[in-house]
Amino acid sequence: MLFAAVMTLLLFAGCSNNQENNDEAVVANAVSFDEVLATRRSVRSYDATKTISEAEVRELLIATQETPSWANQQPSKYYVAMSPEKVEAVSNLVGERNKQNIAGAPVLIVSTYEKGKSGFFRGEQTNEVGDGWGAYDNGLSNAYFILKARAKGFDTLIMGMRDSDALRTLFNIPENEAIMAVISLGYRSGEPRKPEHRPLDEVVEFF
Ligand SMILES: Cc1cc2nc3c(=O)[nH]c(=O)nc-3n(C[C@H](O)[C@H](O)[C@H](O)COP(=O)(O)O)c2cc1C
Repeated sequence: MLFAAVMTLLLFAGCSNNQENNDEAVVANAVSFDEVLATRRSVRSYDATKTISEAEVRELLIATQETPSWANQQPSKYYVAMSPEKVEAVSNLVGERNKQNIAGAPVLIVSTYEKGKSGFFRGEQTNEVGDGWGAYDNGLSNAYFILKARAKGFDTLIMGMRDSDALRTLFNIPENEAIMAVISLGYRSGEPRKPEHRPLDEVVEFF
């Protein structure tokens, strides 16, 4: 009886230690937010030998669902090219320079926002920014995406140079959606250049 009780206690103690070890491992493997910010770069050279699963892309897109948006309108939408044919088709619509830079990226994503939602109340434009708030929300959502991607070890390039009419046809995107960026998703090959950013005091004023 005593033996059984001691064994049970030891078993539970072992479980608890394992759990603690697992928790420590998770914390040890987690990338800090500052590290995500510091290592996220616009990547223009991809490792073509590595692939990304739909489940992995979904995990990144789930992060965008946490994004704040105007009156919680959530106007952002995503069209994900994963098949080699669709990826090739999209890469032909971002200009020659971008096409070269994203060669080897296994996933290309088109972001859009539904017009007339963010910045509007009962169909009326709320202030002078109008649908600019939809673009604002879409940019926020894309920021969540690229940061989550970096946190999971992926790399991205946001491209504003793209043929929106051809993308609309390719994905059958309705006219009430404004087409914004194409985002490449993949793995960097080599270390990307870190461009200079403006000094803080040039862009911030404290009062
Ligand atoms: C809205 C937007 C559009 C962009 N379009 C392009 C593009 O078409 N091609 C490209 O190479 N980079 C593009 N970029 C990436 C910027 O050039 C890049 O973010 C900037 O140079 C700073 O570099 P970093 O992202 O590595 O910090 C774009 C970025 C944003 C936010």
